[in-house]
Amino acid sequence: MDDRQIDVLISEEELGKRIKEIAQEIESDFGGGDLVVVGVLKGSFIFMADLVRSIKRPLSCDFIRISSYENDVSTGMVRMEFDMTQPVKDKNVLLVEDIVDSGRTLRYLLEHMKNKGANKLKVASLLFKEMGTDSKKLVDYIGFEVPERYVIGYGLDSEGVYRSLPYVGAFK
Ligand code: IMP
Ligand code: MG
Repeated sequence: MDDRQIDVLISEEELGKRIKEIAQEIESDFGGGDLVVVGVLKGSFIFMADLVRSIKRPLSCDFIRISSYENDVSTGMVRMEFDMTQPVKDKNVLLVEDIVDSGRTLRYLLEHMKNKGANKLKVASLLFKEMGTDSKKLVDYIGFEVPERYVIGYGLDSEGVYRSLPYVGAFK
């Protein structure tokens, strides 16, 4: 795992601080009512774990599994591998993503959640990769903007590895 050199782009400390800020925004934006936090697997699992522990209100957690990348390259096709296990009709939903790049995955997910009849639907993404697309307006809470590089760590993988790094980095 340490045979490749990695630049640290966002440190553990920066991640922790920013996630607490986002959690506070989420707390004040959602008010009362049921809140279901839906993590998009696998990439969001670490962000989601830290985020929900900083949101000081009752909520439930669910997961959805989507894939569009093979061997670090986007296939251009979004495939649902498994869906959430509870109905979200009339509930408040926070969708949690690791990174939004072209926005293709997110658009697919938003359509999917709307079809399920969610009431208030908001999106939190740890990272946002600026690509000259208009996908930024789809994301309500962005942790950090990252440059046009393939990023790894803190949930994000390269060919299945590096998710467990405690920071966000990129190969040198
Ligand atoms: P989009 O559909 O182009 O927005 O791509 C979003 C998905 O692709 C994310 O949920 C990630 O799973 C994956 N992805 C995009 N860029 C990266 C990256 O730099 N590192 C790791 N995964 C990425
Ligand atoms: Mg993903």
